[in-house]
Amino acid sequence: MTQPRIYLDNAASSPVSPLALEAMWPFFRADFGNPSAIHSYGQAAKKALEEARRKVALALGAKSSEIFFVSGGTESDNWAIQSAVKMAKAKGRHIVTSATEHNAVIKPLEELVGQGYAVTFLRPDKLGRIDPSALEAALRDDTILVSLALANNVVGTILDIPALVKVAKKKKVLFHTDAVQAVGHIPVNVRDLGVDLLSISGHKFHGPKGVGVLFAKLPRLPHPYIFGGGQERGGRSGTENVPGAVGLAVALEEAVREFRSIDALIALRDRLIEGTLKIAGAELTGDPVNRLPQIASFVFSALKSSVHLINAMNEVGLCASSGSACSAAANEASHVLMAMGYPNNLARASLRLSLSRYNTPKEIQTVIELLPSLVNKAREKGR
Ligand SMILES: Cc1ncc(COP(=O)(O)O)c(C=O)c1O
Repeated sequence: MTQPRIYLDNAASSPVSPLALEAMWPFFRADFGNPSAIHSYGQAAKKALEEARRKVALALGAKSSEIFFVSGGTESDNWAIQSAVKMAKAKGRHIVTSATEHNAVIKPLEELVGQGYAVTFLRPDKLGRIDPSALEAALRDDTILVSLALANNVVGTILDIPALVKVAKKKKVLFHTDAVQAVGHIPVNVRDLGVDLLSISGHKFHGPKGVGVLFAKLPRLPHPYIFGGGQERGGRSGTENVPGAVGLAVALEEAVREFRSIDALIALRDRLIEGTLKIAGAELTGDPVNRLPQIASFVFSALKSSVHLINAMNEVGLCASSGSACSAAANEASHVLMAMGYPNNLARASLRLSLSRYNTPKEIQTVIELLPSLVNKAREKGR
């Protein structure tokens, strides 16, 4: 008999919803045409692409013309940063971000440092929050961009982006938010946030992998960065991923509809938190109140490495990841937890359980029952 598996790593990638998958099928075979072609195959693909753009715009409170399809969250973050840098080049070379950002933001910024830019990495508090006054103090006359994630991918803390945008706007500084973990999980409206640039990724909310979106406020953004056939209104050349865009849009539409049952997901998450905190030496990481509905994250004392725990869990069919999630080197201390002030030993001993609407109360109960002995087993490993 094969062992039942319980999937609690939805923040790394989530299963494509049946509705999204169904919507994508025709664009692989029947309506596979190139959206730039004039004939009926091309027209059908073009129509679907524009309908997908309209749906995404509606979900985010944007205009269709402000939605650009890309290959995922990483590309969206990279394009946002490059656009801002090009647009504000006459103003200066200073950028402000947080030390808790995803590497899809940190690495392109480090690349810019090598080209003579200065980057200030803000330090959050122990809960992962950034104080608007800390941002205010970091802004300089030559600051051109602030990039702060709406919600953190490791601990799930949600930032007060409108308050942070207000500070940046006083100095006329562009604002980008990586909303990859937030969109599809909490209501996101680009106008309410006040941001100029926002990044999302399909596979984080039951859409397909390899497709994402950059929202960019027109008319001055975004700046073109891939040159060729002039697709995506000249900004990002390359034949569009029509099935991907369709799947992302349908998944997003569905996720927004599912907000009505978000309380059930929050109750599951809280049950998981409560159960896990009964383990001696377990500590919840991130903001206990302003946190994503789908993320429960912890550190464990006397655990040498997250890898020991993830492996012990995997042996009994529980699939989760650590605080270095989304990085190939799961063995490393999480840079997010380190930035939040956790000592190295705890930053190496983290666990992220990320749920979805497909998880059941029974699954959560099983996890709570199994976890104490698995943590003990993992602790033994390092002795
Ligand atoms: C906050 C955040 N930004 C960006 C990304 C990268 O997204 P993608 O996998 O679509 O490139 C991730 C993926 O884990 C993420 O969590």
